[in-house]
Parts: sequence; C-alpha cells; structure tokens
Amino acid sequence: MTDFLGLIIFMLPIYVANSIPVLLGGGMRLDLGKDFPDGRPVLGEGKTIRGFVVGVAGGSVAGGLLALYYPLAWFSIPSLQFWGGALMALGTMTGDAFGSFIKRRLGIESGRPFLLDTALFLAFALAFAAVFVAPSLYSLPNLVFMFGLTIVLHPATNFIANRLGLKKVPW
Ligand code: CTP
Ligand code: MG
Repeated sequence: MTDFLGLIIFMLPIYVANSIPVLLGGGMRLDLGKDFPDGRPVLGEGKTIRGFVVGVAGGSVAGGLLALYYPLAWFSIPSLQFWGGALMALGTMTGDAFGSFIKRRLGIESGRPFLLDTALFLAFALAFAAVFVAPSLYSLPNLVFMFGLTIVLHPATNFIANRLGLKKVPW
C-alpha cells in the first residue's frame, strides 16, 4: 500500500520552494538581464536571484522542520532527511529555472503557461533527492501519485494566487 500521506510530507519542501518566490521574489534577474544568442532573454523577468534564494531557503527550512517532526522511512536517518530537503529545494529552483530556459528557447514568453512547467521542477527535485532516499521511493505508483498530484495542484494554486492578487496571471 502506497504511503500517500508520507509522499505528501516528502513533497512539502518542493511545494514550499516553488511557492515562496511568488510572494518574496523580485529584484535582480537570475540571468542578470542578459539575452541568449537567439535574441530572447536567457531566463526572463520571472526568474530573480531573490526568488531563487528564498525558494531554496524556504524549502530547506520546511525540510528541516519535517525532518524533526515527521521522520520518513525513505530516509534511513533524520539528518539525511534534513539534507535531502535542502537538496530538493535546490533541485526545485534549478528545475524551475531550467524550465524557463527551455520556454524562452521555444519562444514562449515569461508567465505564459507551458506543460513542462508543472513537471520539470518536480523531476529535478526528485533527481536531486535521489542521493539521499531509498530507491523504493521511486516506485511506479509513487511516481504516478507525485506527478499526478503536482499536475493537479500546480494550476489550482496558481489560480488561487492570482485571485489573491499575488500573481499577475492565473497559471
Ligand atoms: N519568481 C522569482 N524568482 C524565481 C522564480 C519565481 O522571483 N527564481 C517569482 C516571479 O515573480 C515569477 C513568479 O514567482 O513571476 C512565478 O514564478 P513562475 O511561474 O515560475 O515564473 P513565470 O513568471 O511564469 O515565468 P516563466 O515563464 O519563466 O516560468
Ligand atoms: Mg509560471
């Protein structure tokens, strides 16, 4: 039986890392305002240094708290869960920026919806976490659940953030 609650707890640092930049991001762009040789922005206005840093920091704090209060069996010891959360947060923000890089190369403007947006940051976070977790985490039912939930939640949270006035566009 898949431990769905465990999977949700496992994914919280990813969701925190992905959400916080919407609230606290801004300032200098991660690509320093530079264009790629194709004439489009390297990453664009939606990726800022502060957003990246607060995403990694917020996700790491979430991972640290969860390691203290909700030890998960996929990590053999709590300190692995602690560092796993930090790596997942870093993976989330790296995957998020990589997604923007791909979007810009395809000529999709900042903030426009794109299917990969939803899954790439999760794929990166899971890949980064792989160093610390038991391989059993990556069973097919677990992966289906994690990607399925994220694909459903991502548009929903974006829509809510837009309604709350936190995000300019509802995706
Ligand atoms: N954000 C940020 N820095 C980051 C990531 C996100 O400041 N590294 C903030 C930006 O204000 C961004 C918002 O969070 O507009 C939403 O993030 P996201 O949906 O990932 O960016 P988009 O604006 O949609 O841009 P892109 O098309 O490049 O994904
Ligand atoms: Mg977006």
